[in-house]
Amino acid sequence: MNELQEIVTFEELRIARASLPEPVGFVPTMGFLHEGHLSLVKRACEQSASVVVSIFVNPTQFAPTDDLDAYPRDLERDRELLREAGVDLLWIPTPEEMYPPGFQTWVEAEKITKPLEGAKRPGHFRGVTTVVAKLFNAVQPQMAFFGQKDAQQVAVIRRMVRDLNMPIEIVASPIIRERDGLAMSSRNTYLNEAERQAASVLYKSLLAAQSAYKKGERSADSLRRVMEGIITDEPLARLEYISCADYDSLEELTVVSGKTLLSLAVYLGRTRLIDNLVFG
Ligand code: PAJ
Repeated sequence: MNELQEIVTFEELRIARASLPEPVGFVPTMGFLHEGHLSLVKRACEQSASVVVSIFVNPTQFAPTDDLDAYPRDLERDRELLREAGVDLLWIPTPEEMYPPGFQTWVEAEKITKPLEGAKRPGHFRGVTTVVAKLFNAVQPQMAFFGQKDAQQVAVIRRMVRDLNMPIEIVASPIIRERDGLAMSSRNTYLNEAERQAASVLYKSLLAAQSAYKKGERSADSLRRVMEGIITDEPLARLEYISCADYDSLEELTVVSGKTLLSLAVYLGRTRLIDNLVFG
């Protein structure tokens, strides 16, 4: 098995990065790794000569009302999984070094961060783009790997990379799901048993809308209503939003024609889950 080197500071990263074989693939994460994260790591290992993974629970992408401290962590397990996967470098930066006293420089994408998750989580994407830009600057990867689970995040990162002329290829991978269709997420651990069972309703609603589309339905409103009906039938689920939007611009559609992103956010108890599906 290969050596997994583990580092903390930006200076350690700079030194370790200098001797990594190119091209370098990079997988940014917040840790508590599951099969979804590992699918990105596996792909990075296949496509790059060396792989860097970061674990950093980024405070600036959480709302003050989110319980940042409650975010699940298991560094020992993460380390073992990354070693087994063949990762070369694990970087665990500290909040103190990421955001030193007096920090005031932000990276912010505009229009693309306004709808969907951006509308419900003000400031979230500013935190994401800022930390990812800082991670990219430090790691200087040729490729970076993200999950389609966070579809808007991928769109925002692609926009940032284009707008700031970062020479990095963004690779997006499909959503990894549990057997009942629930998209894997660190937040699934917050669900109690009943909520966990009910949580498959997100994917069911996406599949129902997709099936209506396949049968010829092209009204975005009808597709949204198909999804809404299934979510509201589940007593434990509370719908936050449902969207049927253009895949590239993320603007809501009236009529479905080209590549389309169906997405939704649903509360099960106090846990907020998101999911999506692309067609067309
Ligand atoms: P995190 O939630 O840890 O996710 C890290 C990466 O794993 C993201 O690209 C996410 O889309 C992907 N991922 C999560 N669940 C997945 C699943 N079920 N299938 C496929 N991919 C999945 O996303 C973040 O961290 C942060 O915002 C970050 C980019 C690290 C910036 O802080």
